[in-house]
Amino acid sequence: MDLEALKATAQAMVAPGKGILAIDESHGTCTKRFAALGLECDAENRRAYRGLLVAAPGAEAAISGMILFDETLRQSNDEGVSFPKLLEDRGIIPGIKVDTGAKDLALHPGEKVTEGLDGLRERLAEYYELGARFAKWRAVITIGDELPSQACLMANAHALARYAALCQEAGLVPMVEPEILLEGPHSIEACYGTSAETWEILFKELAAQGVALEGLILKTSMVLPGSTCDDQADLLTIAEMTVNCLKANVPAEVAGVVFLSGGQTAEDSTIRLNEMNKIGGMPWPLSFSYGRGIQAPALQVWARDHQAIGEAQNVLVHRAKMNGLAAKGEYDISLEV
Ligand code: 13P
Repeated sequence: MDLEALKATAQAMVAPGKGILAIDESHGTCTKRFAALGLECDAENRRAYRGLLVAAPGAEAAISGMILFDETLRQSNDEGVSFPKLLEDRGIIPGIKVDTGAKDLALHPGEKVTEGLDGLRERLAEYYELGARFAKWRAVITIGDELPSQACLMANAHALARYAALCQEAGLVPMVEPEILLEGPHSIEACYGTSAETWEILFKELAAQGVALEGLILKTSMVLPGSTCDDQADLLTIAEMTVNCLKANVPAEVAGVVFLSGGQTAEDSTIRLNEMNKIGGMPWPLSFSYGRGIQAPALQVWARDHQAIGEAQNVLVHRAKMNGLAAKGEYDISLEV
């Protein structure tokens, strides 16, 4: 394992004022997002849309890396330049989603385990050749009556740790993502407890597999009340509870912590990240790895008019810049246009 190279990549991913853009939706998820706006989700439409994201001028000021899907890593622009090459040329690190999706966990109704370990060593070697320098694996955890089970937390943590070890062996920084789903009526306290337990089990498994935390990025959900919880917490409570939970459960050696947006509005994702960085005092950089939180406004522009590429790119870069400021605690709502 080349730990120095992994550390350098991981640190660049969370450089001051920078974060990650996730554009790695599976075909199923992309179909849902496109269909909601009346768009066909075929390979050419995906190439056209993701091509504008990859090429957005100025995105590199706030975007350190982009997470691509297998298909996207192999696609090129109209001039035949591959998407990973376009990113590299602007100093944006190409990443790749490598899990093959969350499947029903046997004997545990309502819970999922993420698959994709079979053949992963060979896939990672190919992804490295294609230019990827970090990878993502997403596990999903549901809060409910008696949920999550220990079985779910342990199965997902074990898979994440084995994936992370394979990534480091192959020279890719693992972005380990246990997402606690926002949907449901659970309280913010329940989310705090589940987040703490999830991270505790995850870091035990990572240690057991010998994963070097200095060459790893944690991607996580914020500590939030469920989307249908009657008691929606205020901004400061969310920021303090998330920061406290992370500090208590995430080892200081981790290279960086980044959030997913997970169904929050684009502005909420920015404001909450900013509030946490205003609190400060954390041993790792705290930044973003948003999908919808950065893409959603740009997708709306492009859905309305496929010719409005410049406008869609401007909207994307604006959100990226707002989040870059939030990663430094320097965002202000007055900066929104
Ligand atoms: P969202 O920010 O849209 O939740 O997506 C981030 C991501 O990569 C989830 O795996």
